[in-house]
Amino acid sequence: MSQPTNAPGADTFAESWLALREPADARARSRELAALTGSALTGSALTGSAPFVVHDLGCGTGSMSRWLAPHLPGPQHWVLHDRDPGLLARAASTVPRAASTVPRGVDDVPVTVETRRDDVTALTAADLSGASLVTASALLDLLTDDEVRNLATACATAGSPALFTLSVTGHVELTPADPLDAAVEAAFNGHQRRTVAGRRLLGPDAVDAAAQAFTRLGVPIEIRESPWLLGADTPALTAEWIRGWAGAATEYAATEPGPSPDTRAYLARRLAEVADGTLRVAVGHADLFAAVHG
Ligand SMILES: C[S@@+](CC[C@H](N)C(=O)[O-])C[C@H]1O[C@@H](n2cnc3c(N)ncnc32)[C@H](O)[C@@H]1O
Repeated sequence: MSQPTNAPGADTFAESWLALREPADARARSRELAALTGSALTGSALTGSAPFVVHDLGCGTGSMSRWLAPHLPGPQHWVLHDRDPGLLARAASTVPRAASTVPRGVDDVPVTVETRRDDVTALTAADLSGASLVTASALLDLLTDDEVRNLATACATAGSPALFTLSVTGHVELTPADPLDAAVEAAFNGHQRRTVAGRRLLGPDAVDAAAQAFTRLGVPIEIRESPWLLGADTPALTAEWIRGWAGAATEYAATEPGPSPDTRAYLARRLAEVADGTLRVAVGHADLFAAVHG
C-alpha cells in the first residue's frame, strides 16, 4: 500500500474511506444513466418472475448496490465481486440488512445478495453467464487497457449491458485557485497512470478506454459527467481527499526528474481552507452505460 490513508491513489481501500465517500458517490452518479439501465432491464428478454441478476465488480462494501437497486425494476439478485475478503464480509453483512430498508427495486421488491471473492480482471463471459447487468463503481481507473477490453468482451459475449460509474477523468477544479494546482494535478494524474507489478493503470484514461472497447465491439454507449462536488458541507471527505491527492502527487513527483512542487506547503494551505469552509472542489468523474443486448 502506498498511501497513509486510502484516499485516491491507493492500492487497497479502507472501509472507513469507502464509507466517507459513499454519500458523495451517491450524489454524483448519473441518475439519467441509472434510468437508462432500468429501461434496458425492463426491455430485456429476461423479464418475468425470475430476479434480474446484477454482477457488481470491485464492490467494496456494496455502495453501488445500495445506490442502484432502488432505480431498477423487479426482483434483483446481486452478485458482489471483490478481491478483498474484509470488504466482502462487510458487504455481506450490510447489504442484506440495508436491503430491508433502502435498496429495494422500484416495485418495492426485495433484493438478495451473494458475494464472490475473485480477481475481476480474470472474469470471462462464462463467469457472467445469465447476468442481466454488470456494474462497477470507482473501478475502471484501477485497471489496464487490456483488462478493460477483456471486461467489455466478457459483457458483450455474455449479452449483458454494463453500467460503469465514477471513473476519474483527471480534471479537478479548486476554488479559490492556487498557483500549484496545475502541478499537483499533473503529478497526481501521473501517479494514477503508474505501473504496478507490470500493469500500467489507466487512471484518467479509463472512460475513453472503455468507450473504445465497447465501440469496437459494436455496442452503443452513453457517457455522462458525474463529478464530486465538495465544499463546506463535506469537510471530512474534502480533507481526506486533498490529503490523498497531494500525497499521491508527492510520491509521483519524487520519482520524476526536476524540482518537485512544494506539496507540503500546498497541503497546509488547502487544509486551512477546508477548516474555514472556503474551499470548493469539483473532482471530475464520468459514468458509462454500454447498451449490450441480450
Ligand atoms: C475504489 S474501491 C470502490 C469500491 C465500491 N465499488 C464503491 O464504489 O464503494 C475499488 C474496489 O475494487 C476492488 N478491486 C480492485 N481491483 C480489483 C480486482 N482486480 N479484482 C477484484 N476487486 C478489485 C478493491 O478491493 C475495492 O474494493
